[in-house]
Amino acid sequence: MKETVLITGAGRGIGLALTKEFLAAGYRVFAGVRKTYHLLEKEKEQYPADLILVPLDVTDMASVRAAAAQVSAATPALEILVNNAGVYLGDKTRPLEELDLEDNHLQQTMEVNAFGPLRVVQQFLPLLAAGEKKIIINISSEAGSIGDCWRKQEYAYAMSKAALNMQTRILHNYLSPRGFKVRALHPGWVRTDMGGKEADLDPATSAAGIFNLIQKVAAGEQVTKEDGEGIYLDYQGNILRW
Ligand SMILES: NC(=O)c1ccc[n+]([C@@H]2O[C@H](COP(=O)([O-])OP(=O)(O)OC[C@H]3O[C@@H](n4cnc5c(N)ncnc54)[C@H](OP(=O)(O)O)[C@@H]3O)[C@@H](O)[C@H]2O)c1
Repeated sequence: MKETVLITGAGRGIGLALTKEFLAAGYRVFAGVRKTYHLLEKEKEQYPADLILVPLDVTDMASVRAAAAQVSAATPALEILVNNAGVYLGDKTRPLEELDLEDNHLQQTMEVNAFGPLRVVQQFLPLLAAGEKKIIINISSEAGSIGDCWRKQEYAYAMSKAALNMQTRILHNYLSPRGFKVRALHPGWVRTDMGGKEADLDPATSAAGIFNLIQKVAAGEQVTKEDGEGIYLDYQGNILRW
């Protein structure tokens, strides 16, 4: 039987590149999509049986439950979950004094980037527990590192990724005794709608790095220490400071 993966935010950017990477490697991919579907059309033609589109808005519990029901009806187990969906809201150039703190961008950023992955993990846990690999990947960011923080603005995004890192650590504590492997990965600075045109990496390079790292995690070649070192990594496997 083919191995299975669920990728959230699979309709564009890094999620789309990860979807292509997993399909090319022979996986059956459940692609969580919210608004953007059209960029997956070619893959749908090429892999009609292995690419399954799953409507999924990670801010909406009913949507997450419906997605889990759809995937449960299609497969008895999920090997890998990649929580990739994310947003960058608010003006990154404005200092604190000029920030609009009433436009809801703080709340919405947390809803998608921090609370969204927790909703998805909760609802997909039985399927993941039934899998062999039991891998949960939260796509974080170097922006979530408190130890290496250099920013003087970007509160919403950086705070949401720091919260996602904490979530990853708690999930690791909770789930590793059951054989789960939980990681928070920084994908690099990637040329997507979020990363912008000036970014270092094309999405395929980042996705290939993340894919290889996941294989190493699955094979037990990438391990974590008692103090949590090795849970938070970049797409090349370099350890990041919490
Ligand atoms: N690009 C970078 O340089 C960079 C650096 C560090 C970390 N990251 C992280 O990498 C991940 C992917 O980023 P990206 O650069 O590929 O961003 P992107 O091109 O803006 O794509 C974001 C994806 O998330 C989806 N999404 C947004 N809100 C959602 C929601 N409520 N429910 C479900 N899906 C939702 C989008 O779907 P729609 O099309 O429906 O909006 C889209 O598929 C994010 O977690 C981001 O924080 C990116």
